Amino acid sequence: MQILIAEEQLRETVDRLARQIEEAYSGRSLTIIGLLLGSVVFLADLVRKIGLPYELEMVSSRQPMGNSGRPGPLVINPDVLAPIVEGRDVLVVKDIFDTGETFWELIPQLDDLGAARVRSAVLLVKQGRRRTPIQPDFRGFEIPDRFVVGYGMDHLGKYRHLPYIAALEPAELVAEPES
Ligand code: IMP
Ligand code: MG
Repeated sequence: MQILIAEEQLRETVDRLARQIEEAYSGRSLTIIGLLLGSVVFLADLVRKIGLPYELEMVSSRQPMGNSGRPGPLVINPDVLAPIVEGRDVLVVKDIFDTGETFWELIPQLDDLGAARVRSAVLLVKQGRRRTPIQPDFRGFEIPDRFVVGYGMDHLGKYRHLPYIAALEPAELVAEPES
């Protein structure tokens, strides 16, 4: 594997994103919604740096995916989300912006629950992969179109513990078992 983003760069960028989020949401009623599972490490670091009150919820949505796998459908629970979304400024937080399909599916559902405004924050934006008109509002790093792991992100359940972000080599991208 090849290290793309070292720990110190991650810290600096998480700090920068937290400052941008504080500026954008100062005086607003902020609800943060994290997308499980790959975002948990980023989310935990980010929210500790945001010096504003917020409501927090997680959306556990997709089936695990490998290098070629298609993620499963998003499932949200409107009863849980409606009370913290209606009339509030919602920030959806995610590890990687890849095709944009997750946000494309989720953001209209949050609008339907009566959010005042929905924006998004992502740690990584993969170049040349976007397949939807959507663009994330708060962006950490632009990365090349390679499969990355570490800092909470996995390949078939592995590598989440790495404190940096690394790109896997083709030989490390073993095929996903047939299900
Ligand atoms: P979307 O295509 O923007 O909807 O993102 C799909 C999801 O696929 C991301 O949130 C990640 O969980 C996962 N994903 C996409 N690319 C990678 C990668 O390089 N490493 C690990 N997970 C990835
Ligand atoms: Mg994954």
